[in-house]
Amino acid sequence: MSFPITRMRRLRKTETLRRMVRETVLSVDDFIFPLFVQHGEGVKKEIPSMPGNYRFSVDELVKECREVVKLGIPAVILFGIPAHKDELGSEGIADDGIIQIAVRALKKKVPNLTVITDVCFCEYTGHGHCGHVIGNDVDNDSTLEWLGKMAVSHARAGADIVAPSDMMDGRVAAIRSALDKNGFSHLPILAYAAKFASAFYGPFRDAADSAPAFGDRRSYQMDPANGDEAIREVELDILEGADMVMVKPALPYLDIIRRVKEKFRVPTAAYNVSGEFAMIKAAGQKGWIDEERVMLEALTSIKRAGADLILTYFAKDAARLL
Ligand code: PBG
Repeated sequence: MSFPITRMRRLRKTETLRRMVRETVLSVDDFIFPLFVQHGEGVKKEIPSMPGNYRFSVDELVKECREVVKLGIPAVILFGIPAHKDELGSEGIADDGIIQIAVRALKKKVPNLTVITDVCFCEYTGHGHCGHVIGNDVDNDSTLEWLGKMAVSHARAGADIVAPSDMMDGRVAAIRSALDKNGFSHLPILAYAAKFASAFYGPFRDAADSAPAFGDRRSYQMDPANGDEAIREVELDILEGADMVMVKPALPYLDIIRRVKEKFRVPTAAYNVSGEFAMIKAAGQKGWIDEERVMLEALTSIKRAGADLILTYFAKDAARLL
């Protein structure tokens, strides 16, 4: 049927009609809020390129997470800034490392919040790469054992989900087997499966002090031009035991989110990364765009593309509006 019988505008006439035929509805249940934690006490230091986001000491992190729970957000993902960085990233696997301390505190004081930990070495190594560097590159196989150790130490501290973001080959299998051997066979893995070597991570690297000291991450993170390869990455992670998969970044990769969701039908997360957040914030602060509307439109587009979960620095702002 075509015009004049069909008139698409009939169902756009009023807000109630629009609500009734709306296909995609954002919910606070979709959100995972990323948080940065460091040593110290009473620290709440705003990240200049990420307004409204902070580096917290553990006591302040607990307060922030109480607010997160009050807003109805089900989960946070934690990134740690260690006291000392070294060649191997030792604090990353230490029982008294910053993440391990933070997870124990949160599980005790904010028990009904799901705590996800990022499993990766770039925040803990002096060179800022995601694993062990041999020569001029990250050595895949020797990094795997350490990733397993990190995941187990997070699990021991009480993490609810571990999320490997290093992009080593075989890491999901290595982490799954380390968890199982240590009595954590029930702990889910959220794999950063299709993680691209993106310029949109800039503000995060300032926040976490994790920019690589030499070179870049292109020998382990994916080439932004590749879609089929993203499907292979996701497939491998699922075969190795990933319970949920992630596409990262989100907005420049909506096509990948759609393909992953359609092909695999597993819980799919998308990471609306620091640069995506910073661009909207900055343009909003300048008065060039309506920040609230652009934020909701961007988050809705990520969900419409197929994401079940959205990691976003907008989680609190959006939760207040929903
Ligand atoms: C690596 C990691 C990064 C992000 C999340 N986990 C940075 C990187 O790969 O350089 C970036 C997230 C963001 O930009 O918001 N551990």
